[in-house]
Amino acid sequence: MQDSKRPAAAPSPEGGEAAPKKVFIKAYGCQMNVYDAERMADALAPEGYAETATVEEADLVILNTCHIREKAAEKVYSELGRLAKLKAEKDGMMIAVAGCVAQAEGEEISRRAPVVDIVVGPQAYHRLPQMIAEIHRGAGRALDTEFPVEDKFDALPDENGAEGVARFLTVQEGCDKFCTFCVVPYTRGAEYSRGAASVIAEAKRMVATGAREITLLGQNVNAYKAEGPDGKDWGLARLIRALAEIEGLARIRYTTSHPRDMDDDLIAAHGDVPALMPFLHLPVQSGSDRILAAMNRKHEADDYRRLIERLRAVRPDLALSSDFIVGFPGESDADFEATMRLIREIGFAQAFSFKYSRRPGTPGAAMPKQIAETVKDARLKELQDELVRQQIAFNASLKGRTIPVLFDRPGRHAGQVAGRSPYLQAVHVDGPLSLIGQIAEVEISKSSQNSLSGALKEAVAA
Ligand code: SAH
Ligand code: SF4
Ligand code: F3S
Repeated sequence: MQDSKRPAAAPSPEGGEAAPKKVFIKAYGCQMNVYDAERMADALAPEGYAETATVEEADLVILNTCHIREKAAEKVYSELGRLAKLKAEKDGMMIAVAGCVAQAEGEEISRRAPVVDIVVGPQAYHRLPQMIAEIHRGAGRALDTEFPVEDKFDALPDENGAEGVARFLTVQEGCDKFCTFCVVPYTRGAEYSRGAASVIAEAKRMVATGAREITLLGQNVNAYKAEGPDGKDWGLARLIRALAEIEGLARIRYTTSHPRDMDDDLIAAHGDVPALMPFLHLPVQSGSDRILAAMNRKHEADDYRRLIERLRAVRPDLALSSDFIVGFPGESDADFEATMRLIREIGFAQAFSFKYSRRPGTPGAAMPKQIAETVKDARLKELQDELVRQQIAFNASLKGRTIPVLFDRPGRHAGQVAGRSPYLQAVHVDGPLSLIGQIAEVEISKSSQNSLSGALKEAVAA
């Protein structure tokens, strides 16, 4: 067991000390931002901050932002507009902008939105307590968008044992791939992997506090490479094999991967590690080699097809997910058709798709032949119609089958409980809340685009 750096509890109001301060954190964008939001709460707990879900109650509001598409970044400014009104009514409220917009725009944020007190990048948020203290000392504003040499994970207190059956664990950050459309290499910096021993220790603590499923996170999670407890270099597959040994950890997933980093060992792990769930999010972006080259993806459409073949050879029921971008500069009707062809050939259980968004500072933004919005709209609709058809068909294919469901939350209606299939679909059944944290067999009788429902195979006592 590692030394706990966990702080003492916040001063209690009964003790006559100041009432605990409240922090409201809102995460936008990817799951890594959700994980980071939890770690920000951990960093602030020693300062006496308790989390609140009500923004009006908050002494500190943190927006953990996303810069991936223009719409995502603009959302932050409309939220800041609303917060300005709240701050005007509430003495002493502090507002922080964290995450990728903070990294990309830095001081520009407080120029555009003077209501902001703190701007902190994704690699610097362990310093939030110092930044808050600076403001209390009258420093006005605080900004930190460094990529410090110290590891923020070493500097953060242990996670507070956030509850939950299915949790995220960041193992890798940053990206060296420089796809020409993408801001991530600029906002998150160079690829960096956490040491395997620290990841395993964190996973064990998660399991000790109720986790049954862990999703390993990274912008390029399958590029994971770090020192293992044996002193050797470990890749993601080796890490997954070690985590699969943790008693009580029933399910492992990982996201997001790059096709170039699917190595032999990771493909093999899909066949021989039962805890590794048969679901893979592997973005391909486009089915056209010309566009893939312009995107600097460094693989062709057939490389992707071959990878999927190899994965399905070791795990025939593997469910696939992907990301697609339509309307990248220069995308012709034929290029788009190549993407549609790839989608029809592979068959996806679900997918995310976006219109290309021109991001300042990325090579794609300066490329000629930007595509008209109306063309992007039409292509996105056609592509999404097909993906929705595939998702509905995939869900329907489970009807009549009995599958293990990990229950992790109450259902929408009283008397219902909800969980996930191995393929990541939401599953609803009538059953007691005592099922939460357990895996039970469910016979699927109904499916829709977004979920499955069915009946427990064996009655479970309430
Ligand atoms: N690291 C992951 C994805 C990171 S961003 C990967 O390599 O696939 C998540 C998704 O957002 C991307 O897969 C891409 O489909 C989309 N995306 C990124 N930049 C975009 C842009 N400028 N316009 C539209 N979509 C974008
Ligand atoms: Fe962005 Fe490409 Fe890196 Fe993914 S691999 S984060 S899309 S630059
Ligand atoms: Fe968005 Fe940053 Fe994640 S740009 S998608 S929050 S890495």
